Amino acid sequence: MSSPATETNTEQVLAASRLALDPRIEQAKKLILEAVAEHQSSLAEIRGADESLAAEYQQVLDSFGKLRGGNLYFPYLASGIGNGPFVELADGSVKLDLITGIGVHGFGHSDPRLIEAGIEAALCDTVMQGNLQQGVNSVDLVSLLCETANESGAGIDHCFLSTSGAMANENALKIAFQKNFPANRVLAFDHCFAGRTLCLAQITDKAAYRVGLPDTIAVDKLPFFDHKDPEGSTQRAVEALQQHTSRYPGQHALLWMELIQGEGGYYLGHRDFFVALIDEAKKHNIAIIADEVQTFCRTSRPFAFQHFELDQLVDIITIGKISQVCATLFRDDYNPKPGLISQTFTGSTWAILAAQKIVKSLIDDGNFGPDGKNMMLFNHFESGLKAISQKYPSALTGPHGIGGMVAFTPGNGSADAAKAFVGKMYDAGLMSFMAGANPARVRFLMPLGCVTTDHIDIALKIIESVAAEMAS
Ligand SMILES: Cc1ncc(COP(=O)(O)O)c(C=O)c1O
Repeated sequence: MSSPATETNTEQVLAASRLALDPRIEQAKKLILEAVAEHQSSLAEIRGADESLAAEYQQVLDSFGKLRGGNLYFPYLASGIGNGPFVELADGSVKLDLITGIGVHGFGHSDPRLIEAGIEAALCDTVMQGNLQQGVNSVDLVSLLCETANESGAGIDHCFLSTSGAMANENALKIAFQKNFPANRVLAFDHCFAGRTLCLAQITDKAAYRVGLPDTIAVDKLPFFDHKDPEGSTQRAVEALQQHTSRYPGQHALLWMELIQGEGGYYLGHRDFFVALIDEAKKHNIAIIADEVQTFCRTSRPFAFQHFELDQLVDIITIGKISQVCATLFRDDYNPKPGLISQTFTGSTWAILAAQKIVKSLIDDGNFGPDGKNMMLFNHFESGLKAISQKYPSALTGPHGIGGMVAFTPGNGSADAAKAFVGKMYDAGLMSFMAGANPARVRFLMPLGCVTTDHIDIALKIIESVAAEMAS
C-alpha cells in the first residue's frame, strides 16, 4: 500500500489524492520552499547574538526556566529557521549544531525535504495518529522499517510505532516479559542507558536517575566489551551471565543490549563479544533486545545489529531519535497477546512522513556501506581530532565512536573538564554535549542528512582553539 499522493489509480476515487495532486498545492509548496531557501541563505556561518535582542532573550530564558522548574542546559531557544547544520537562535546568533537535540535533527534545520513532508502532513486530516485511527502513511512507514531491517535476512515480522524511545523500550520489555513469563529478571550492561520510565530507570546504569524511585524490576549487570582486552572482557561478561543464570535459574526474561553505548560514552561492542553472550543467553531462552534508539541510521548500515552482523540473533529491536517516530520491531514468535501494547498516539503525521523521507534519503544518498557517507564523515572528523590530540594531548584524547557518533575525552576526563570544553565551544558557536563518566567525554551526533566535510572543518577549527586554550 502507498499513500494517496503517490498512487495514480486512486486519483479518480480519493479526494485526498486529488488534493495532493492539485496544481495549487504544487504551486504553494514551490512558493513556500522558495521563500525558505531565500531566507535561510543568510544562515551559512556562525555568528554572535544581536545586542539589541540580548535583554529580551535573557528575560524569555529566565521566565522559561521558572515555568519549567529549572533552567535549560544551554541558553538555547531556536528562532524557527536554520540552514542544514546551522541554526538561528532567537537572540540572532547562528550556531553550528553537531549535537542535533542528542541525535534527533538528523537533517539539521529547515531541511526542504522535511518541510515538504510537513506541508503534506498539514494537508492530512489529523495532526496525530494513534492505534484506533491510523492513516495509510503509517502502513508505508512500518513496511519500510521492516523491509530495511530484513535487508540481510533478519526475519523481523512486525513493527509497532510509538512516540518516544522510552515508550518503544517499554513495549520491548513488555513483549519479552509476556513471552517468557514467569521469568521476570533482566540482564543488562554496566553503564547502559535505556530511558527514564520507572522500569527503564532500573536498567539505565545511573544512580542519579533513580534517586527517590521505587525498585520496579530486578536487573543483573554484565561488564561491557573492552577493546583493549577483547578476549578477557568477553570471557568476563560470559562468566557474569553464567553466574546470574545459575543464581536465578529460569528467571531471566531478556538480555538488554546497546550495541554501541551512547549515553555511557561512545563505547563500541564487537560481533564476537555479542555472539558469545547471545549463544549463552539462548541456552536459557532469554530474549535478545537491541536498543538502537541512539544508533539507528548512524553506523555503516541502517541498523547497528546489521553493522555487527547479528541479523539472525536479535529478537526485538527498538529505534528512535533520528527516525522522529520511535518503533519496536520484533519476530513473529514474540507477537504479544492483544491489549499488551497500545497507545493513544503512535506519532504525528509529520513525524511519520518525515521518518520515511529520512530513512529513504539516507539509503538513496549513499550514507550506508563500508565506504558510505556515515563512515567517510566519521573518518574525516576522526583524523582532524587525532591531529588536534597530537598537538594538545593534555587537552584532548581519543577520538572514539563510529559513523554519526563522534566523541573525545577532554583534559583529565573529569565532568568539569567536559563541561568546560562543551561550554567554551558553545560560546564559540559549536554545539556538542557530554557523555559518560570516568572518563567523561564530549560527543557529537552529526546531522547525517546534510553535514559535509566543510562543516566538520569549521567544527575542528573551534575544537582546536578551545584545546589550545585548555592546554595553556
Ligand atoms: C540508547 C537509548 N535508549 C533509550 C533512550 C530514551 O529515548 P527517549 O529519550 O526518546 O525516551 C535513549 C535516549 O537518549 C537512548 O540513547
